Amino acid sequence: MEKTFLMVKPDGVQRNLIGEIVSRFERKGFQLVGAKLMKLSRELAEKHYGEHKGKPFYDELISYITSGPVFAMVWQGENVISEARKMMGATNPKDADPGTVRGDFALTVGKNVIHGSDSEESAKREISLFFKEEELVSYEKII
Ligand code: CMP
Repeated sequence: MEKTFLMVKPDGVQRNLIGEIVSRFERKGFQLVGAKLMKLSRELAEKHYGEHKGKPFYDELISYITSGPVFAMVWQGENVISEARKMMGATNPKDADPGTVRGDFALTVGKNVIHGSDSEESAKREISLFFKEEELVSYEKII
């Protein structure tokens, strides 16, 4: 079953949006298989955002993402990578539709509340950066 990595960013955690965001993905029908509240080291932040190194917003991005706790999650389900991207909305909240997380809760591209993997390859990479195999659970849905 497909898995993706989602992370409530420091602004989302401090605005008490963890519950709202988790609830949206639960109600959609996806299954939470891993989660932790953590403060990112500079090293992990630089690995996670390695593809953006050298871009004008990179330094600000690293200092922001390490500024406070994030809520890292792994979600599982049919087409969860692309569906989660739809539910998050466009990276820049000014282009995000109402009803999406960023459309409903964010104003600026720098503080856009949530991160989600953009492909199967990045989902695999990001999940393994943030979680050990034994931190992910596997369970049958019983209801
Ligand atoms: P995210 O999906 O976490 O991936 C990279 C992040 O860089 C992005 O969300 C934005 O929060 C952040 N960012 C900051 N400034 C920009 C920008 N000008 N263009 C794109 N991303 C930006």
